[in-house]
Amino acid sequence: MENKEIDKAIIEKIIRIKQKSGNKLVILTHHYQRKEIIDLGDHKGDSFGLSQRAATDKNAKYIIFCGVHFMAESAAILAKAHQTVQIPDMDAGCWMADMADAFLVERAWNEVAAIVGENRTTPLVYMNSDAYIKAHCGKNNGAVCTSSNAPKAFEWALGQREKIFFFPDEHLGRNTGNHLGIPEDEMILWDPEKPLGGNSESDIKKAKVLLWKGYCLVHTRFTINDIKTMRKNFPDAKIVVHPECTGEVVKASDAVGSTSFIVKYVSNAPKNSTIIIGTEINLVKRLVTGCPDKRILPLKDSLCPNMYKINLKNLLACLENIGKINIVTVDEKIKKYAVIALENMLNL
Ligand code: 13P
Ligand code: SF4
Repeated sequence: MENKEIDKAIIEKIIRIKQKSGNKLVILTHHYQRKEIIDLGDHKGDSFGLSQRAATDKNAKYIIFCGVHFMAESAAILAKAHQTVQIPDMDAGCWMADMADAFLVERAWNEVAAIVGENRTTPLVYMNSDAYIKAHCGKNNGAVCTSSNAPKAFEWALGQREKIFFFPDEHLGRNTGNHLGIPEDEMILWDPEKPLGGNSESDIKKAKVLLWKGYCLVHTRFTINDIKTMRKNFPDAKIVVHPECTGEVVKASDAVGSTSFIVKYVSNAPKNSTIIIGTEINLVKRLVTGCPDKRILPLKDSLCPNMYKINLKNLLACLENIGKINIVTVDEKIKKYAVIALENMLNL
């Protein structure tokens, strides 16, 4: 059989399983999934929207999460006891999430507390992190945030205590601080490979925001030169980027926001306008085909190989083994605290 025929046969099988399962089964798809996966999903969204969905959908016994592991893990933390969360490929990880090692995070946290005192810092963790880091934040009265609610989460955190320790995305943290008018010299970088993160005690005392040195390889590929070239070639275009891009790329763009924000931005743009997008290529490609009345261009081709691990074959395998394979579980001791941090975000 040709590849196309194989895909067609798989799609038919998936549709049959979905029809047979009714509302016992829900397939959640992140915006960066391939088109054929999105087409088979029940709900698509950004990491915040999908976590809300997982927290409120009480009917589905089986939640199939087509995204990366930290997203499925967050769904598993928020799901009810009768629900099972599965991911088509257990190896669909996230490089940025891997940059915040639990041991190094705890060591850094204790070092900062020893310098500024206990209860002076609110931990905030980006959704792109593993459950252990979320639990660390929950245990220390912090919260999770996503790219769609980071400014709100920063304001909340600074209302609790005088400092924020933000993990693990330096750029989302700095872009959010800039957006809120926090002076650049009050945001310091914490490099876990250096003593005291590469800072002096007085830098740490003075800082309002401490930024863990983590980043997304997919979004930091966009450069200021890409923006300059596009501005030159398309002077009337609007440029919109994801907040995981570097600060200089964000400052040179017209708008910045989460994947859902980008989808809305494009849908609200006037007919015949040109929009250049700095985020993962599968979302950009879908917007190109979905909005034939607008010219949509990628700032550059940048694919997330982790998101791309989910495909028709492993989705079918997951559905044929519903409740049996690739079940995402979280240790109860970790869940108990991680859920506090996630609920603090949902209540923002
Ligand atoms: P969103 O929060 O916009 O869904 O983004 C998640 C992500 O992993 C971006 O790289
Ligand atoms: Fe992680 Fe970047 Fe992929 Fe998002 S795009 S899942 S941050 S590696």
